[in-house]
Amino acid sequence: MSAAQDDQQQSEEPHSNGNPYSDDNVARICGSYIDIRRIKYYKDTLTGILRKHGCNRILDAACGTGIDSMMLIEEGFKVVSVDDSEKMLKYALRAREEKKYDEWIIEKGNWESLPSDLEAFLPEIQFDAIFCLGNSFAHVLDEHGDQRTQKLCLKNFNKCLKPGGLLFIDHRNFDDILNGGSVPNHSIYYDWHQIKSTVMLDSGKPKTVTLQYYVQENTGMIEFSLSLYLHKLENFTKMLDEAFDNRAKHDIYADFKPMGQVPVPGFYIHVLEKSKE
Ligand SMILES: C[S@@+](CC[C@H](N)C(=O)[O-])C[C@H]1O[C@@H](n2cnc3c(N)ncnc32)[C@H](O)[C@@H]1O
Repeated sequence: MSAAQDDQQQSEEPHSNGNPYSDDNVARICGSYIDIRRIKYYKDTLTGILRKHGCNRILDAACGTGIDSMMLIEEGFKVVSVDDSEKMLKYALRAREEKKYDEWIIEKGNWESLPSDLEAFLPEIQFDAIFCLGNSFAHVLDEHGDQRTQKLCLKNFNKCLKPGGLLFIDHRNFDDILNGGSVPNHSIYYDWHQIKSTVMLDSGKPKTVTLQYYVQENTGMIEFSLSLYLHKLENFTKMLDEAFDNRAKHDIYADFKPMGQVPVPGFYIHVLEKSKE
């Protein structure tokens, strides 16, 4: 892998709201370049928090190819996995068959309509914990200019949790990208050849980041890009708290370590504990 290189520029962009993982090539590449070492890295932190809170039934709400779901199943948790992309789910379904994880429930679901999507196959269920990890939530852009779709998705996560349940949700360290920092090609989640970032402006204000990924395959260098909403830590923390009526306990980790231990984290991971009343 070459050293991370970052070409930060600023430009105006048209909005794009389609799920990029509906593209065969993006789904295949994302599945292949997940850094399998991630599990070793954060398994103890995640499962430690889950066990401390007595969690058993987990919703992996952005399961993608199923890497985190499989980690949880192997650790003895009951897992329901959803994702909006059938192309990504195809990999999870194949893994379920190969590994004979017969109790693993995998269905298509979108965060915007999550309670009713779940109701269709699991009526009246609330989870002990929900995962929305692996750089997923920032894919919800802001077509109305008031973050209403993001707020709706967060409220839906809240509705699907039991009182006292936990939401695990992450975002890149966009504050650092905005301040001219480089995007690491190796992170707790993925291992890429190179990533370039372009901060996009909306009415003169930074709003999204386009990440251009470069992947060296046998056939040559493959390139694709993803548009992500630029969540600043402070604003995202506030939006999350509001989605939980400002009553949730809210911890933030930096690359799964306590805040302050990692000088420039690649990702922030928020853990909200829904109020018990
Ligand atoms: C970067 S991948 C991460 C997948 C997996 N969590 C991992 O760590 O490998 C982001 C996933 O979020 C899913 N996604 C994006 N928007 C979604 C939405 N509104 N509802 C459900 N899934 C969504 C995509 O289809 C994709 O599989």
